[in-house]
Amino acid sequence: MQIRKQFALVALEDVKAYLDEEGGQIAVFDATNTTRERRELILNFAKNNSYKDVKVSSPDYPERDRESVMEDFLKRIECYKVTYQPLDPDEHDNNLSFIQVINVGRRFLVNRVQDYIQSKIVYYLMNIHVHSHSIYLCRHGESHYNVEGRIGGDSELSERGKQFSAALKGFVEEHRLSDLKVWTSQLRRTIQTAEELGVPYEQWKILNEIDAGVCEEMSYEMIKETYPEEFAMRDQDKYHYRYPGGESYQDLVQRLEPVIMELERQGNVLVICHQAVMRCLLAYFLDKSADDLPYLKCPLHTVLKLTPVAYGCKVDMFDLKVGAVNTHRDRPLNKVSTDAVPPAFLRRNSFTPLSSQDQIKRPRLYSMGNPPQARMSQAPTLPSMQFSEVSEGAELLQNKDSLNCFSASDADECVRS
Ligand code: F6P
Repeated sequence: MQIRKQFALVALEDVKAYLDEEGGQIAVFDATNTTRERRELILNFAKNNSYKDVKVSSPDYPERDRESVMEDFLKRIECYKVTYQPLDPDEHDNNLSFIQVINVGRRFLVNRVQDYIQSKIVYYLMNIHVHSHSIYLCRHGESHYNVEGRIGGDSELSERGKQFSAALKGFVEEHRLSDLKVWTSQLRRTIQTAEELGVPYEQWKILNEIDAGVCEEMSYEMIKETYPEEFAMRDQDKYHYRYPGGESYQDLVQRLEPVIMELERQGNVLVICHQAVMRCLLAYFLDKSADDLPYLKCPLHTVLKLTPVAYGCKVDMFDLKVGAVNTHRDRPLNKVSTDAVPPAFLRRNSFTPLSSQDQIKRPRLYSMGNPPQARMSQAPTLPSMQFSEVSEGAELLQNKDSLNCFSASDADECVRS
């Protein structure tokens, strides 16, 4: 008992360092906290350090071989039974904020949920589950705009994009993903990709690609020429930068929250989406920082299989062996000096003196059924392609021959969990 208490105190010191010194906002103190004395200790710790709120959370277990873990875990429950003092929402604990998850989510007891963050935590806990499932993420097949090096818009699939759709159908059949749900955005390129599968699918507007506002349908070179300051600002803080009249990655993360929640609830799902959207989903499941998120590599014609496991996600990557352009723009090596360019975060709210003139959020013109905006007369030059070797993960090795468009470090950036 003494050793366990010591561990708890050390972990609380970690919480303190994280919140006070490392800029953390929410700390999860992961322990069983089965006795009143322990819960008292945590509350006093929070009070003494003026933290407004403390959460209890579920038990944790290190990885070992399966049988001994099971045996040990059952023993552990028996031990807890001896000292366990349940939370008492009617009397002793009625002033505390807590959520009790009963029988792995069969029932929830929620007491004194008082603010936005707490209610979000309740919502989150009510949506996650423990049954095994896999999430398959890929982008649409290569589009005409991808080939021309333009961003956004609502163009259709190129010939190679169509070949990818056929290859994706083969992939679904080969992996016997029969009870699979398929989701797309409402943009043509994802819908055309899903159509080829010949299975029912759902179109989600919130899966649409990042809205590049006034820069929609331009190439990066055109943006640099037409809006040099915007271009530099995006390089300076890509996560927070919001396109005039469009969105930032931060906006996108917020927009995607319902999809993420639904992915947590569902069984096997294939999400056919877009580069920026796929980065956000991947960052959520692989716990990537806001700084790394906009640079995650999500190449065309590659399927990522994410399988949630304890403490993370297992990632398998499948290149479907259909060539495509590379739409990835690397993180710039030399960021522009902050004196020259106003920081992007100042533009988070739409109407600030530092914002561009055009901050009006317009409805997108290009969802299915509407003609795309007038096309640009001159096609821009293509982005350069980079090809090299890869070697990562068991499934990756099986597909090694086809995996020729990443370096080992690219794959690492893409798949590390
Ligand atoms: O180029 C394809 C694309 O999906 C664009 O529509 C989108 O604006 C872009 O990728 C997002 O990538 P990045 O944030 O790196 O510009």
